[in-house]
Amino acid sequence: MGEFAELTFRGRTIRLPVVEGTEGDIGLDVSSLRSELGAITMDPGFANTGSCRSAITFIDGEQGILRYRGYDIADLAEHTTFLETAMLLLKGELPTKPELDAFTESVKEYMVLHEDVRHFFNAFPKDAHPMAVAGAVVGSLSTFYPEAMDPRNVEESRESCRRLLAKLPTIIAWSYKHSRGRPMAYPHHSMGYVENFLHMLFSAPYRDYVPDPLVVRALEMIFVLHADHEQNCSTSTVRVVGSAQANMFAAISAGVWALWGPLHGGANQALIEMLEHIRQSGLTPRQFIDQVKNKTSTIRLMGFGHRVYKNYDPRAKVLKKAAFEALERLGIQNELLDLAVRLEEAALTDDYFIERKLYPNVDFYSGIILKAIGIPLTMFTAIFAIGRMPGWLAQFHEMQRDPETRIARPRQVYTGQARRDFLPIEQRG
Ligand code: CMC
Repeated sequence: MGEFAELTFRGRTIRLPVVEGTEGDIGLDVSSLRSELGAITMDPGFANTGSCRSAITFIDGEQGILRYRGYDIADLAEHTTFLETAMLLLKGELPTKPELDAFTESVKEYMVLHEDVRHFFNAFPKDAHPMAVAGAVVGSLSTFYPEAMDPRNVEESRESCRRLLAKLPTIIAWSYKHSRGRPMAYPHHSMGYVENFLHMLFSAPYRDYVPDPLVVRALEMIFVLHADHEQNCSTSTVRVVGSAQANMFAAISAGVWALWGPLHGGANQALIEMLEHIRQSGLTPRQFIDQVKNKTSTIRLMGFGHRVYKNYDPRAKVLKKAAFEALERLGIQNELLDLAVRLEEAALTDDYFIERKLYPNVDFYSGIILKAIGIPLTMFTAIFAIGRMPGWLAQFHEMQRDPETRIARPRQVYTGQARRDFLPIEQRG
């Protein structure tokens, strides 16, 4: 037996095997705890629970480090395209140019939706949130590909993977078009992945949309920065659903909906709403921070704090710099960026935030860039979803191939009524 930890409970001692990662992460394997000691672990929010071994993404939250497959996030954000990073996540290695070209072509081929899917959009209310539509339409894709129901079928899984990566931008752009009562634009084969998304979002039958390379680059970078983040809430959701051997479309639609929550991907929209509220109410950053600190209020500083990062989120670092550069190059004076910077300064010098190690996270500056490049506010979380797709897919694949995978089924400690006698209805007072 290798290294182990000892745990003593009610006079019995057991050995817990140690699981060690390549970067020094340590896990104690408690899987025998219940059979050996009759006890389970309690860990609300799974803050100390490792659910799997994974070779995809490494985070050191204390140091503020994020790497995909060993590569630093700042390097990937600066030098790769989204599909290049998607290949890295999915296949484990950066692609060669011919590999990337072939993959890009095949993804573009799949961007179009089955014509019957187009009719779904008419059934949604005009003010439906794009994330609601995205979750519904992604789930509905399982009705079009009945051959892809078994996630252990490697060939079909590869196809489903490409379909999901390719079709989500179309689904999201079409949900926007529907909300505006405008005709849907089909993907165009001459355009790249990101250009195609912008084209489907902004072009009209009477006017082509020629994307500014700066806007394309900013969006590529935002997608890369969101592409994976190990066992976050939506990815864990994808894994939990997939552990039941549900099909990939079902698992990914569950991930989309988990991401929508304001404590997760929904924070980028909530952040802009918060900044607008501060601006309109005339509060100073300090006054708003005081409201956040008041424990009788439920207000949180959106875009701040993270379960894993107890240091500056490395994605926020890249995005802050990019926000300044993008706004300068687009010639935009942005009051919201100034306000965000002042809020950040106020928070980072405040004891409440210092003691709790709360720093800006990925959502703090991404929304400002998205707003500056003309992305409608309700689309922000959907942009996060497009970015997160390769991570969801890579994690889903990894889980399906992992011999340690079992159906996800946590336990509980029951705290309800002890056994009592049943009373027939006429005897209840
Ligand atoms: N504003 C004010 N107080 C905060 C904040 C915040 N943004 N975040 C954490 N805290 C406080 C919290 O009240 C608690 O204080 P106390 O110890 O006095 O009760 C302490 O810090 C620890 O917070 P927690 O809620 O126990 O931490 P968590 O790890 O469960 O939650 C979080 C992490 C991201 C949900 C939380 O920090 C938060 O709600 N942030 C705002 C929403 C946000 O920006 N979410 C995006 C996360 S990054 C993108 C993504 O991965 O989705």
